[in-house]
Amino acid sequence: MDESENLPLNPRVAAGAETITGIVERRLSRRGFIGGLTAVSGFALAACAGRPAEVTNASAQEMARSQPAFSFPEIARGLDQTHHVAEGYRADILLRWGDPLWADSPAFDPLNQSATAQVRQFGYNNDFVGFVPLDPDTDGAPRGLLCVNHEYTSTFLMFPGIRADDPAGITREIALTEIAAHGGTIVEIRQQASGWRPVIGSPFNRRLTADTPMELTGPAAGHLRLQTTDDPSGIKVLGTLNNCAGGITPWGTYLMAEENINGYFLGDLPKDHPETNNHKRMGVPGGWYRWGRHIERFDVSKAPNEPNRFGWIVEVDPMDPASTPKKRTALGRFKHEGAESVVAPDGRVVLYSGDDQRFDYIYKFVSAGRYNPANRAGNMDLLDSGTLYCARFNEDGTVTWLPLVFGAGPLTPANGFNSQADVLIETRRAGDILGATPMDRPEDIEPDAKSGRVWVMLTNNDRRTPDQVDAANPRHSNRFGHIIEITEPGGDFTSETSTWEILVRCGDPSIAEVGATWNPLTSENGWLASPDNCAIDASGRLWVSTDGNDDTGAADGLWAIETDGERRGSGRHFFRVPIGAELCGPRFTPGGETLFVAIQHPGDGDGASFEAPTTRWPDFSDAAPPRPSVMAITRTDGGVVGG
Ligand code: FEO
Ligand code: CA
Ligand code: CA
Repeated sequence: MDESENLPLNPRVAAGAETITGIVERRLSRRGFIGGLTAVSGFALAACAGRPAEVTNASAQEMARSQPAFSFPEIARGLDQTHHVAEGYRADILLRWGDPLWADSPAFDPLNQSATAQVRQFGYNNDFVGFVPLDPDTDGAPRGLLCVNHEYTSTFLMFPGIRADDPAGITREIALTEIAAHGGTIVEIRQQASGWRPVIGSPFNRRLTADTPMELTGPAAGHLRLQTTDDPSGIKVLGTLNNCAGGITPWGTYLMAEENINGYFLGDLPKDHPETNNHKRMGVPGGWYRWGRHIERFDVSKAPNEPNRFGWIVEVDPMDPASTPKKRTALGRFKHEGAESVVAPDGRVVLYSGDDQRFDYIYKFVSAGRYNPANRAGNMDLLDSGTLYCARFNEDGTVTWLPLVFGAGPLTPANGFNSQADVLIETRRAGDILGATPMDRPEDIEPDAKSGRVWVMLTNNDRRTPDQVDAANPRHSNRFGHIIEITEPGGDFTSETSTWEILVRCGDPSIAEVGATWNPLTSENGWLASPDNCAIDASGRLWVSTDGNDDTGAADGLWAIETDGERRGSGRHFFRVPIGAELCGPRFTPGGETLFVAIQHPGDGDGASFEAPTTRWPDFSDAAPPRPSVMAITRTDGGVVGG
């Protein structure tokens, strides 16, 4: 999800999502223009973009393994009330909003949803999906822990009688229910003959919400700017907000990225308040929700430091349901989209994170300590110390990683930074001063340990003007996004200099003005727009999901993207979501036999409401609203997903 405006109740509207009416109208008007692919010359340009001939992608070529080609039959682009998966596969509902997690969880009752029920049930708007394998059961059944983020709530779809443009009906009980529907779910799942099923009442099951006690750790923990009247220690925070994507660390912890935290705050600060400019850079107060009318800490005029306690990466140990989640301040504070990590050859851990806003930055963190696969406890605080870098994409095809270290370069008291805590609390401003490259909304970033490559999803940026174009963001008014491939030299993810090129400029290649650059071997269904989340499968192959493909008249979904060989830069359409939804998650089991996907905000759209959603997926019952759900996709013959 992207923050840009300050509008009530429907964060999708705030994010500039187009109306369903507009989508359908344009789809119909454009139908006659969708034909063969005409992007041969464009693809040739993409292969060379930002890279002079002498800088080659040699390390990736040397390291990449031979990857099996995707062989599933493509689905057709389209838009309707339900989901579609490639022939030969089954997509099963695993968990829906409101599903019970314990034997005593109240049954889902959408007409009478409450905070006490919600906190015992699967939350709303599933986004990130992680999978931590457990030893098989005594009967040999595969099992694991599913870790799912609940990014935000769609108040008008969840509760009867609420209009997206009328906050008057938001009672304290509704606010508390929304708080309980946020955060994350950790749930044990097992694969039975009938498919994957949640283990109701598993001792691992846990709900994390926007009210769960957490701790700030690392260099900024306890700083004056993180202290509040409720928490003079500056360490104890209630809850996590707007958990978009995330990550699973090499030691099996669950990282929850806090993204559009600004939307939860109301109220104003005096112009001369020391936090005013800091809050402005983060878009605080965003005013998307009315929680601040009922709960003081969400009103910045009453708790001016509370927003500084959000916008971090939260680390949770899914193996210990009693553990306290840690907000790792060393990773910086911004609108974190995700947090995927990899172990570098020397054992240090490198974590990549995008700041999802137009013209914001890409970051990586290099731990000071080294990962020890034989000592899980010894890895648990690796994310508390290390170096955070922001990326400058140079025209010569290199990336310079600029360290965000207090006292180095311009990060000094002369520029308002008096400690490393200041640098981390105002990471964006530090990136501004260092000269990081403003990007077209960085979303998921996935490092591939086997090839030394890192794939970066840049979803779109319709506000880039012609004079703001650069090599790494080559299109103005970029409505459809692009994918950048970074190569870490020799697979050394800790390197302060990398190389980059554009894998593909997204959008419809049959429309010349779009400027898309797909491999011409891509079929008419194989192109996508607005890449958001991504996953790397067991064979090292890239899969990309979208949030905004519906801007082209067809549903969001999942595409397999070739990254090597003659089909490099081609796509293949695997799955699509019901109307109103975007596709989040994608996550494979270690062997690649199951793919989990998260269907977020089904039934959304212009004028949609609890009473009149655009679809009632997945229950298709007049008694039930649409329900965000996680699905498990498997091949009917039991093989590896993707062929
Ligand atoms: Fe929550 Fe950047 O999508
Ligand atoms: Ca999204
Ligand atoms: Ca996202």
